[in-house]
Formats: sequence, C-alpha cells, structure tokens
Amino acid sequence: MLIDRYNRVHDYLRLSLTDNCNFRCFYCMPEEDYAFSPREALMQAGEIEQIAQTFVRLGVKKIRLTGGEPLIRKDAGVIIRSLSRLPVQLALTTNGVRLHDFAATFKEARLGSVNISLDTLQAEKFQMITRRDSFRRVMDNISLMLDDGVHVKINVVVMAGLNDNELLDFVAWTKDTPVHVRFIEFMPFAGNRWTSNKVFTWQQILERISEGYSFLPLKVDAHETAKAYIVPGHAGTFSVISTMSAPFCSSCNRIRLTADGKLKNCLFARGETDILSALRNGGDIEALIKQNIAAKALELGGQLNKDFETLNGDEVLNRSMIAIGG
Ligand code: GTP
Ligand code: 5AD
Ligand code: SF4
Repeated sequence: MLIDRYNRVHDYLRLSLTDNCNFRCFYCMPEEDYAFSPREALMQAGEIEQIAQTFVRLGVKKIRLTGGEPLIRKDAGVIIRSLSRLPVQLALTTNGVRLHDFAATFKEARLGSVNISLDTLQAEKFQMITRRDSFRRVMDNISLMLDDGVHVKINVVVMAGLNDNELLDFVAWTKDTPVHVRFIEFMPFAGNRWTSNKVFTWQQILERISEGYSFLPLKVDAHETAKAYIVPGHAGTFSVISTMSAPFCSSCNRIRLTADGKLKNCLFARGETDILSALRNGGDIEALIKQNIAAKALELGGQLNKDFETLNGDEVLNRSMIAIGG
C-alpha cells in the first residue's frame, strides 16, 4: 500500500495521457509560449499498461485518465481497453468534444462515468473561453452519454465576473437532467493569470444559489473532493470543490502521473519523480513510487498559503494545469 507520513492511503491514480488539447482554455494553459511535449517524451501505450500494473500491485483501486484532452490521442481506445482489464475502477475527465467517437469503446471497457468540463451554458462565452466553436457538439455529447446510461459529472471552473452569473442556470439544468454539476474554485497554475479576486468561493457559490433555490447537503464518500447538494425534486445534483477556501487535503488519496511519466504526489507539488525514464532504464519504479509518496507534504504541496487572499499566483511554482491533468 502507498501510505504517506500522515497515514493517508493512496489508492487513486490520475494518469494523464497527453499534455495537448484541442481547446485553448485560458485558465488551464498559458496563452503564449506553450510547447507541447514531443511524442517520444510521452508514455507509450505499453508503458502506460506496465506502470498501471505496478500501481495496482501497490494498492491502487481507481484510475482516472486525464490530459490535456485524453481523447485526442490516436491510441486512446487501445489504452482504455487495456486498462479496463485491470482490477480497477476506470474513469475519465474530458472536454467532451470527441466523446461521440468513444461510445462503443466505453461500453466495451465498461467505463460508466465521465467528468466533462463545461464552464458556461452560453455558446458565445464558450467560444471566448475555449477559443473553439464546439458548444453544440459538447452539449450533444453530454446527451449521448446520458442516453447511454453513463454517470455524467460537469466540471465548471467558477471565475468571478466571468461565469458566476450562470450558477442558477446550471442548477436549473439539473431539474430534469441527471447531471452532477461541480462548481470548482479557480486555482493558480503557471501562466493562468490567477488572482485571488477571481476566486468565487464555496460560501459565495452557496449564497448565490440560495437566491434561487432551497437545497440540502448530501452525504459523500470520505475521499471526495466535492461537497454535494441537491435541490429536492431535481434529477441531478450540484457540488462545490473548495480547494482555495477550504482545502480537503487531510483525506487526500490521490497520486498523479503526468503524460511525460513524472509522478506528482500532490496537485501543487513542486518536486516530481521521473518514473518513465526509470522504466526505460530498467530501474526499480516500485521503490521510486513509494519514496515519492513518503515525501508528500501535509497540504497543498507545502507551497500554497492556506489564506488564499494573500497568495500571489505568480509565485506558485508548478506546471500549467494542461500539463498536470487536474
Ligand atoms: P471524481 O473521481 O469523480 O471524484 O473526480 P475528481 O474531482 O477527482 O476529478 P476531475 O478530473 O473531475 O477534477 C475536478 C476538479 O477537482 C479539477 O479542478 C481538479 O483539479 C480538482 N481535483 C481533483 N483531484 C484533486 C485533488 O486531489 N486535490 C485538489 N485540490 N483538487 C483536485
Ligand atoms: N482551476 C480549477 N480547475 C481547473 N481545471 C482546469 N484548470 C483549472 C484551474 N485553474 C479543471 C477543469 C477540468 C479539470 C480536470 O480541471 O475544469 O475539468
Ligand atoms: Fe491532495 Fe494536494 Fe489536492 Fe490537497 S491539494 S487534496 S494534498 S492533491
């Protein structure tokens, strides 16, 4: 088992398939000077399978595929099918634009849950955020997944002044549609121009929603990142991921592997362990993984101030979100 100094058991691996994406969301990647990794720097399908098997031996029970956008990899289907043969719960986070090509693969792989990023319900704003004209396609693909019985969570990064005026619209959407909307506090990463006044907090989110709805808290799993709520009678739910105003590190069970094969023991960890090079050189990757987890900081990678209001985003040393995988 992968247990850190604070007795946290790490059984959830977030595995990034690529640091490239077919969208260009400003909160996720720098607008200029972003170089995607060359192909040879990325883990190949066989390497991913080998590394995943090692993690399973070490007690991992859930693997989430992330990106960039995981479904732009030509061999995404091959990877999904190969990982589905492992004794783990397989999940995926995607921008949703290519989901229609994967409906059959998901059925074959029994992948029954997808998290889809969607920050606005307005086509024009969608284009402004993603710099792509794919709103209709993503909405259609959400319907397609729901029709196939897939559990759909919608990730909304809430940014003050940009989309906080749409929270009630998102909750209205859950009335007849069984989607699980997660409002995420905006987090600082390299090049995303984070400032504390753009964070719309958990408390502000609940206040805003209470202007239109009465809602009740829901019980969630101990390792959940999200606090969940339901408006009685609604088909779907809404939640808040409060990394900035109320971090949930004490119950963290997550490990991250970047697309270029570097292990990060926290979303905000500065240090990384190069698993892919070790694998290619015949090194002991099990030992490296254990060492990396043993060195995990208590919270927020040991570098974010708990009081986010005084945090300077430019001083956070990390990759861009697109190169971590969320
Ligand atoms: P589930 O497995 O369905 O609970 O999803 P998830 O929330 O783990 O994953 P997803 O990829 O949908 O991420 C949603 C948001 O939660 C993103 O903004 C992630 O950066 C954030 N997130 C995911 N895991 C962690 C974590 O361990 N710590 C923090 N602080 N944020 C996280
Ligand atoms: N802050 C919070 N969440 C973010 N995501 C991407 N960038 C940020 C950020 N700066 C979310 C996206 C995606 C998930 C993996 O991470 O919504 O769904
Ligand atoms: Fe875990 Fe780091 Fe997220 Fe805290 S910030 S929950 S320690 S990954």
